[in-house]
Amino acid sequence: AGRKKIALIGSGMIGGTLAHLAAKKEMGDIVLFDIAEGMPQGKALDLSQCGPVEGFDAKITGSNDYADIAGADVVIVTAGVPRKPGMSRDDLLGINLKVMKAVGEGIKNNCPDAFVICITNPLDAMVWALREFSGLPHNKVVGMAGVLDSARFATFLAWEFGCSVKDVNAFVLGGHGDTMVPVKSYTTINGIPVDDYAKIKGVSASRIDEIVDRTRKGGGEIVGLLGNGSAYYAPATSAISMAEAYIGDQKRILPCASYVEGKYGLDGLYVGVPTVIGAGGTEEVVEIELSDEEKANLKVSTDAVEELLEACKGLDSSLA
Ligand code: APR
Repeated sequence: AGRKKIALIGSGMIGGTLAHLAAKKEMGDIVLFDIAEGMPQGKALDLSQCGPVEGFDAKITGSNDYADIAGADVVIVTAGVPRKPGMSRDDLLGINLKVMKAVGEGIKNNCPDAFVICITNPLDAMVWALREFSGLPHNKVVGMAGVLDSARFATFLAWEFGCSVKDVNAFVLGGHGDTMVPVKSYTTINGIPVDDYAKIKGVSASRIDEIVDRTRKGGGEIVGLLGNGSAYYAPATSAISMAEAYIGDQKRILPCASYVEGKYGLDGLYVGVPTVIGAGGTEEVVEIELSDEEKANLKVSTDAVEELLEACKGLDSSLA
């Protein structure tokens, strides 16, 4: 009973944006946690003072003590370091793996019944490690990547076609890296397959390929432009849509980094697949038909994720 409790582990650029969105939507009371002292408390005060202007009721607090996330219904994890220009997400592995260990233990000890959404990169490896360290069931730990990658793909397609983003249903599978797999066969403009609509609009196949490529490198493009840090508005709003699906038992089918065992020929790893999110967490992984080329691309992507998992096991023997 009472309001939901949302714990944000990491109160940096994405964490602060998450808090603002969650408050505005009155999703529940919010705890901003960080290792940096004062910063989450300062952001919590600043965000609380949005309430009278925006008209939301939400208690927003900052903390450096894991005890304050006790009983959280949803935990969204952004703790760690973001990329600098020229870095790949994989370059963050060593540092962020240690962060996932601390966060996983904090969750295990304080809110083992929460639904946990990981955003920290390299995403597919970090969500796997966070699950291992926390010991939570696989259906209660998920990674945010596909909603964001699909949003990037949809944005670029809408610009190219001069159509509303609302009509673009874009589909991206695989790992959250440069090998991700934008799937054209499941991407539609209000139901019209993207290749058909490209023909109607006189957009060449090579132009669509360029958009696929830009989508794959979409995070890096922003890192290069910002010069300091990585994307945060769209990553935050993407994770909020997943949290809403859980809290509202919406049974949405969203592309998420989910635990896949058996389906897609995979044997126990986290990677981006269409996933039903409802009150049970990640309730079902949906296995769709793929062309041979899409299957081959997915294999490249999942092989890259497997390599990162091996690297994690090498860095922390408790994972082996
Ligand atoms: N426990 C809690 N918080 C931590 C820890 C830790 N062990 N280590 C670092 N942090 C905090 C930092 O103090 C910082 O406030 O995590 C926060 C990260 O915030 P930013 O540096 O602003 O990074 P952000 O842009 O929010 O991205 C966070 O998400 O998309 C990914 O690649 C991105 O891994 C990065 C993460």
